[in-house]
Amino acid sequence: MDIIILKDAREASKEAAKLVAKLVVEKPHAVLGLATGGTPLALYEELVRMHKEEGLSFSKIRSFNLDEYVGLSPDDPASYRHFMDENFFDKIDIDKRNTLVPDGLAKDMPAFCEEYERRIKAAGGIDLQILGIGSDGHIGFNEPASSFNSRTRVKTLAKSTILDNARFFGNDVNKVPLHAISMGIGTILDSRKIILLAFGKAKAEAVASMAEGSVSSSCPATILQFHKSVSIFIDEEAASLLKNRDFYDWVNKHKFC
Ligand code: F6R
Repeated sequence: MDIIILKDAREASKEAAKLVAKLVVEKPHAVLGLATGGTPLALYEELVRMHKEEGLSFSKIRSFNLDEYVGLSPDDPASYRHFMDENFFDKIDIDKRNTLVPDGLAKDMPAFCEEYERRIKAAGGIDLQILGIGSDGHIGFNEPASSFNSRTRVKTLAKSTILDNARFFGNDVNKVPLHAISMGIGTILDSRKIILLAFGKAKAEAVASMAEGSVSSSCPATILQFHKSVSIFIDEEAASLLKNRDFYDWVNKHKFC
């Protein structure tokens, strides 16, 4: 794991955006795995800026989103499809037909989830997966006790996730769907490269467990310790409980290559 600690979310997101842009330039047909929520907003903003000011083109990029709430239609303002259109896809030159977000209204969920996996495979697999992390250590909506081998399926959200996400539903916990379709942990681990972003004090405990704790499905993000190419971009607050902080800074200062 590369652990990169920067002053704030903006700086960290700019660094992460450079990695995404490098891939998009080197491999115009790359397959991106995308996340929603508050965390990746500054990353998307920076990529939109690069598109508008530096000509970064996403025209041949394909993308798969991590998750979607069950029961929300694509035009529901709280849906992840709406989030992606509004914050990213509608602001760049990506072909929207190549952007897949799980269908929260799918009639046959198991069949839909199987098909989602099949389409990821058919696209050649995910080159770069963007992740946030839940305060309980979830990645995607793989809540504690999710199998490390899991594939796309419907998950029940943890109470803490419902509370955390109520801010996207007018602060009404009763409006937050109880279920979401989520790529599995196995699906995420198949990605060739992973970038995880985490900002703010509320993520400090989860970040410390992920990077320095024992690998356990009680904190699903700990499995990222087994992935061969993970870059973790965090701000000072999210880094505040790391024991080996000095070491991470040392490594970044003296990076080989
Ligand atoms: C979103 C996702 C979730 C979020 C996580 C953090 O697509 O998969 O794992 O990344 O819940 O959410 P924020 O960024 O809102 O704190």
